[in-house]
Amino acid sequence: MDQRTIGPYTVSAIGLGAMPMSMNGDRVYPDHDDAIATVHAALEAGVTFIDTADIYAPSWDTMGHNERIVRDALVTWGGSTDGILVATKGGITRTAEKDFGRDGSLAYLRSAVQKSLQNLGVDVIDLYQYHRPDRWLVYGEIIDNLKTLQSEGLIREIGISNASVEEIEIARQVLGDGGLASVQNEFSPRHPGSYGELRYCDEHGIAFLPWSPLGGTGGGARAVGERFGVFREIGEAHGVSPQQVVLAWELSLSPVVVPIPGARRAASIADSARAADLHLSADELARCAAAVNIEV
Ligand SMILES: NC(=O)c1ccc[n+]([C@@H]2O[C@H](COP(=O)([O-])OP(=O)(O)OC[C@H]3O[C@@H](n4cnc5c(N)ncnc54)[C@H](OP(=O)(O)O)[C@@H]3O)[C@@H](O)[C@H]2O)c1
Repeated sequence: MDQRTIGPYTVSAIGLGAMPMSMNGDRVYPDHDDAIATVHAALEAGVTFIDTADIYAPSWDTMGHNERIVRDALVTWGGSTDGILVATKGGITRTAEKDFGRDGSLAYLRSAVQKSLQNLGVDVIDLYQYHRPDRWLVYGEIIDNLKTLQSEGLIREIGISNASVEEIEIARQVLGDGGLASVQNEFSPRHPGSYGELRYCDEHGIAFLPWSPLGGTGGGARAVGERFGVFREIGEAHGVSPQQVVLAWELSLSPVVVPIPGARRAASIADSARAADLHLSADELARCAAAVNIEV
C-alpha cells in the first residue's frame, strides 16, 4: 500500500478507525473475536496505522474498551507488529453524572495517559492526540500540559483533534517547529467544513487525519454513494465501491492526508484499504470536488 508520514512515522495511506467496534450510531457491537478479526483484516490489507481513544466504549464505565481490542488484536497477530502505529486520544471525560465532559488539566491528562498505557499494554504512547478543546482552559496551556507528558516520557508524538486553524497555530507555537505531528478533524463529502484546516496542514507539513471520512457510522458512510451520486458513478466505472472513491479522492487532496475509515466488519476495512491503490483522473477528481462543493 502507498505510504504517508505522520510526524517521524511512515504509515499506510489508509488507517483503521477502530471506534465503531466500541461506539457507533446504531449501538450494535461485534463480539470480541469478530472485532479482533476486523483489526487483523486491516493488518492483512497492509494497514499500519490504527486510531483509537480512551472514550471509545459502549458505556461510561467501560472506558478503554476499544484500546483493549486494539491491544488484544496486536498481541494475537501472527505477523510482526514493528512499524504499526497506534494512536489514541484523551481529554474527554465520561462519568455516570456526565457522559462526554472535557478536561485538559495536567492532572487529568496524566491519569488518562496512564490508563491508556495500561489498556494498550505499552510503556509509551507513540502518538497521543488531544481529543477535543476544553473551553474552560486556555488552549496553549493544555498543549503545554501535553508537552510536559512528553518530557516525562509517557507519550512520544503529539496530535490534536477537532481544532481550528487558530488552535493549530497555538499548538505549533507551543510545541515548536515540527512538534505537532497531526490534526484529526471531521472531513468527508458530507462534512467538508474542515477543508481550511486541511489546507493549513498541507502548507505546514502536518498530517491531516480526516475522521468519519465516509460520513459516519449513523448511516452516512453506507449511503455515501446514494447521497453523492458522482462517487457511485466513478466507482462503477472503476468496478469499485463508492467508499473507495471517496477515500481515493480525499488522498488526492494533499500528501499529508491519511483517512481513518471506521469498520466493524473485516470486509469494510479490506475494501477501504484498496482505496490507496485507486488512482482517479483529473476529470474524475474535479467532478468529486464539484459534488462536495469545495474549490481545490
Ligand atoms: N476525533 C474525533 O472526534 C472523532 C470522532 C469520530 C470518529 N473519529 C475517528 O474516525 C474514525 C472513522 O470515523 P467513523 O467510524 O465515525 O465514520 P466513517 O469512517 O465515515 O464510517 C464508518 C462506517 O463506514 C462503514 N464502512 C467503512 N468502510 C466501508 C466500505 N469500504 N464500504 C462500505 N461501508 C464501509 C463501516 O461499516 P461497518 O461498521 O459495517 O464495518 C462503518 O460503520 C473512527 O473510527 C475514529 O477512529 C474521531
